[in-house]
Amino acid sequence: MTGDPEDGMLSWDESVFRDEHVFEIDYVPETFRHRESQLESLKYALRPAARGSRPLNTVVRGPPGTGKTTSVQKLFSELRAQTDVRTVRVNCQVDSTRYAVFSRIFESVFDYEPPSSGISFKKLFGQIADRLVEEDEVLAVALDDVNYLFYENEASDALYSLLRAHEAHAGAKVGVICVSSDLSLSVIEELDSRVQSVFRPEEVYFPKYDVDEVVDILRERAERGFHDGVLGAAELDRVAELTAESGDLRVGIDLLRRAGLNAEMRASRTISVDDVDEAYEKSKYVHLSRSLRGLSDSETALVAVLAEHDGEQAGSVYEAFHERTDLGYTRYSEIVNKLDQLGLVETEYAEVEGRGRSRSISLAYDPEPVLERIEG
Ligand SMILES: Nc1ncnc2c1ncn2[C@@H]1O[C@H](COP(=O)(O)OP(=O)(O)O)[C@@H](O)[C@H]1O
Ligand SMILES: [Mg+2]
Repeated sequence: MTGDPEDGMLSWDESVFRDEHVFEIDYVPETFRHRESQLESLKYALRPAARGSRPLNTVVRGPPGTGKTTSVQKLFSELRAQTDVRTVRVNCQVDSTRYAVFSRIFESVFDYEPPSSGISFKKLFGQIADRLVEEDEVLAVALDDVNYLFYENEASDALYSLLRAHEAHAGAKVGVICVSSDLSLSVIEELDSRVQSVFRPEEVYFPKYDVDEVVDILRERAERGFHDGVLGAAELDRVAELTAESGDLRVGIDLLRRAGLNAEMRASRTISVDDVDEAYEKSKYVHLSRSLRGLSDSETALVAVLAEHDGEQAGSVYEAFHERTDLGYTRYSEIVNKLDQLGLVETEYAEVEGRGRSRSISLAYDPEPVLERIEG
């Protein structure tokens, strides 16, 4: 310290960021910790492919922001680098029909898009399978966010075709990884029985990271992204604490970036706890918006009812929900559980005089921003 008041201030050509790109959405982290056992299970399932055999099918489940997509991307790029296995990750939120899924697979197998003039599914499928047999290639397909295929009622057809590829086309070797971030969806049970009879997947679960793991992961990210001394331990802890509320690591990464921008706005060389808190006011809605987008109509209806009846007893919330949707108490309870898992509501059991234990439910957000996003 020289005592110079300009010391802690940034000049125009300076930045707190060493590499801002590490905070962006498509960045694949170099170090990927706390997912060792999940990676092991996935490797186990994929290993036969490296030997030229059909890989085991897998169902991957876990809440958003727990490293599912990153795991698949890492393993697929290892496979591509070290073997002849053909790998395709399909984002089912974008490609949510069987035809779209297979168009994406076609594109990856042939390196060009299928004719847009609408060839039949059978033909599309046949060309892919023939090519695999011809080249003696094993295909590993990840249906990422497969829950969207279920919402469109396309999951059974898409999976059936993938799983029976070798029957329709002798010699075709295809394995599937289904990745779901909808915890209320029982991936296997929701499939047609004809699919269930050929689908005996390995199951891998990705739990939320705890606070210590979040600190560990975000520290590494901050070291790569910020110059030395920009983010102190107390500020990192604050970011981790706020991230652990939803358990979605994306919230934390976004928070680091916004906190850095806030520090720069003040022309400061260091991030303060206030920079973090201010960033959270904005970034917490990233998680909110994303969670809301994935909800069904009746789930959204319950969120709306909770926002409108903020602070009221569970009984009156249920009544209002029932009035609006005509759904019964069992379904109501299931939806409450799902919203709880998504971090949209907080539930607590409390002793109520004369009525024993009862569950109180409150929104994890202020009602106004929630209503704005539902209605907007
Ligand atoms: N163990 C980890 N180490 C480093 N970064 C991680 C880890 N897990 C997740 N991330 C980061 O968190 C974000 C969300 O991860 P992602 O794999 O997309 O989660 P999911 O697919 O489960 O929603 C990504 O930016 C990813 O880089
Ligand atoms: Mg994902």
